[in-house]
Amino acid sequence: MAEPFNRTRRLRGSDTLRRMVRETRLSKDALIYPVFVREGSNIEEEIPSMEGQYRYSIDRLASVFDRLLEAGVTKVLFFGIPGEKDGEGKGAWQEDGIIQRALRHSREHYPELYLITDVCMCEYTSHGHCGVLEGETVDNDRTLDFLARIARSHARAGAHMVAPSDMMDGRVLAIREALDREGFGQVPVMSYAAKYCSSFYGPFREAAGSAPAFGDRRTYQMDYHNQREGLREALSDIGEGADIVMVKPALAYLDVIRRVSERSAVPVAAYSVSGEYAMIKAAARGGFIDEAALACEVAVGIFRAGADILISYYARELAGWIGEGRIG
Ligand code: PBG
Repeated sequence: MAEPFNRTRRLRGSDTLRRMVRETRLSKDALIYPVFVREGSNIEEEIPSMEGQYRYSIDRLASVFDRLLEAGVTKVLFFGIPGEKDGEGKGAWQEDGIIQRALRHSREHYPELYLITDVCMCEYTSHGHCGVLEGETVDNDRTLDFLARIARSHARAGAHMVAPSDMMDGRVLAIREALDREGFGQVPVMSYAAKYCSSFYGPFREAAGSAPAFGDRRTYQMDYHNQREGLREALSDIGEGADIVMVKPALAYLDVIRRVSERSAVPVAAYSVSGEYAMIKAAARGGFIDEAALACEVAVGIFRAGADILISYYARELAGWIGEGRIG
């Protein structure tokens, strides 16, 4: 006789069973690790707002690359911290800029790594905004030329993929055309498509020295009350030629990840940003939570929501936990 209720516990009885029936599968292949590169030599300095994360001078990149590769993480997302800033963020596209040199160095010494670059102006502009200014507002269309120039210079220096994070309208198309014109038709664009104006970026801005000198980013980054608009951003970037669309931040935006992933014809990435990392670290330091257990739970939640790719400051540790079978 059938029992009068469902014994859902039946499939939870052993680790073997639980692992067999997992609905969400994780792979090290889907992890990307953000790397901060700065000017100078012999520098590996911890970022105060992001315990366990460092800024590296180019000659010290080996330190992080070796550990990543050992853990099985083969993709990095580069952020540059230039020595000097100016109104037009020139350091972002110069041939001997910090990112361009880091790319050439990494290509030469770490051919097994896949190099993705953040394409934006905020780390390079004296005012800290993500584009060029017209008065106190960011001039969308004039910024497009600069972004295209930055992306092209990254590709020339060896970037395998570019990731624009500025949130200007039309930048995916501008970048795609610039890359194609130069013979970089095979360089994919991963667009920060649904990028919300978020307090979760606080620790990153301290790390990169990229906080806006006045005002905020509300006229270009998205209002977090809006979910449907996130889908619109993603679909319009796909229309302009984005190869991968990203939702950012991740933890408070799982609904957006779900909605975009259901409608997107291209892979969806999620960026678990600096504030998400810093919150877990702080709670762990206070002794309130088990860091590894929480980081695993959050990462699995992001994939369960529909992400195909995860950009995370925990990428190396996650790869280790996947390897141990703790998650995955
Ligand atoms: C640059 C950029 C930011 C982040 C990624 N690219 C900062 C911002 O938009 O202010 C945030 C990443 C993080 O918080 O981990 N535009």
